[in-house]
Amino acid sequence: MPPRLIAVSNRIPTGSPSSGGLVVALRDALSASGGLWIGAHPDPGTGLEEMEEVSGGGCRCLAFRLSEEEISDYYLGYANSVLWPLCHRRVDLVEMPSTYEERYRAVNARVAKLIAQVARPDDLIWVHDYHFFPLASELRALGLANRIGFFLHIPFPSLGDLSVLSQPEDFADWLADYNLLGLQTRGDVARCLEMYRADPRAEFMPDGTVKMQGRITSVRSFPIGIDVDHFRELAGVGGRNPFGREAPDGFVIGVDRLDYSKGIPNRFRAFGRYLKTRPEGTRPCLVQIAPPTRERVQAYQDITSELEEIAGRLNGAFAELDWTPIRYIHRSIDRSVLARLHRMARACAVTSLADGMNLVAKEFVAAQDPEDPGVLILSRFAGAAEDMTEALLVNPYDIEEMAAAIHQALEMPLDERRARHAACMEVVRRTDATRWAAQFLAALRTCMPTLSPQVARLSSSHRRHRAVPDEKPDRVDEPLK
Ligand code: ADP
Ligand code: G6P
Repeated sequence: MPPRLIAVSNRIPTGSPSSGGLVVALRDALSASGGLWIGAHPDPGTGLEEMEEVSGGGCRCLAFRLSEEEISDYYLGYANSVLWPLCHRRVDLVEMPSTYEERYRAVNARVAKLIAQVARPDDLIWVHDYHFFPLASELRALGLANRIGFFLHIPFPSLGDLSVLSQPEDFADWLADYNLLGLQTRGDVARCLEMYRADPRAEFMPDGTVKMQGRITSVRSFPIGIDVDHFRELAGVGGRNPFGREAPDGFVIGVDRLDYSKGIPNRFRAFGRYLKTRPEGTRPCLVQIAPPTRERVQAYQDITSELEEIAGRLNGAFAELDWTPIRYIHRSIDRSVLARLHRMARACAVTSLADGMNLVAKEFVAAQDPEDPGVLILSRFAGAAEDMTEALLVNPYDIEEMAAAIHQALEMPLDERRARHAACMEVVRRTDATRWAAQFLAALRTCMPTLSPQVARLSSSHRRHRAVPDEKPDRVDEPLK
């Protein structure tokens, strides 16, 4: 029997359609090890000192409740109004009331205590995403010496942007308590190592790991993927035409949470530019599915208004009585309908200004008929672009270039579409969700074990009470793998 796996993420599987590849990937690993998944209950509550079993996702899930204040300050506040914009190169959107950070630290400390109640000494603990950067430090402070891995689903922030945090040095310190730090791309790894290179407490070891005040962390990229066969199956299932009698001639699809990092306003502008110069007689559509997300945060309210304004203006300018060029749906839709839409689309526009990976890009490629595939237009700022180099790569700040890419995608000859699709599909298969999870866990199992619980506790409280960093260690400043 492999060691038990405990996965921790703020959002846990609830059986809802948008749970996606992460759930599938972890569910397999969790059920193979008899493990459990811990995360926030979807509803706020007051029973903060215990966890409850929730059903969903085909694995054992334990949920902790967040109070209304914690949702405001930890989830909408520090996680999504400080760390999210920071990691997505939007420090101009960072909001910093002191209660955000206090509550973020407090929730991490509380969740660590709840995990410590159920964790066994040989469990592997796999923490996901920016809601829980300090979780390993809190677990170490409680004396846990388990192997703890962290995977960051979003971009790693740049060194300069990290200065926006009230105590930037804590960030590197939090991450140093993980045995394995998994990032999406090689670019993310480079940014993370740059942070450690600039930190006088960090030392680079000859095997590529980072040593900081006695703790050794391995930093590697593990590009996340999707459950390819399942998505292909969904896309291929017959059923009624989702458009009914309103089917467009040919359409470009966009599918994103309505997040400012996705570059949707520029996508609309580029489509508008394309409409102006499109070949005579064509009446293409942009079908944009953009469900609301984090709606109480001002920046999300602003992007919603901006998009409505642009869609209204462009439709006003170009629509005809029997043709609406932009079909914008501000709701979530059923995953099987989504997969069918991908298969019917002639192109997909992924125009993120910053994105960890972008699973929609992989889902679009997986959904295609290889004999007559649509074309992926992909922002060079999405993690997916690092490997999917045969997509039509675009700069999402350049409206003209994107308009030209839409034209190129819609006019592309069949041979070229097939060749580009085959190359992208090879990447989608090579990085599928199951392999992603298996590779991360294999790497975590081989990490150097951490100190014993007693030493872990001592060393953690020692660091907490030190006002100055350790003496500068000898450094190896060579680039690492
Ligand atoms: P992010 O994680 O930033 O939202 P990704 O593209 O990596 O972006 O992942 C989004 C996931 O959510 C994909 O699996 C996508 O299919 C799913 N999704 C996005 N919009 C919808 C929607 N309207 N309905 C159902 N699923 C959606
Ligand atoms: C991104 C993040 C996830 C988050 C998801 C949806 O994918 O990496 O951690 O769960 O967005 O955001 P939400 O705020 O609705 O959980």
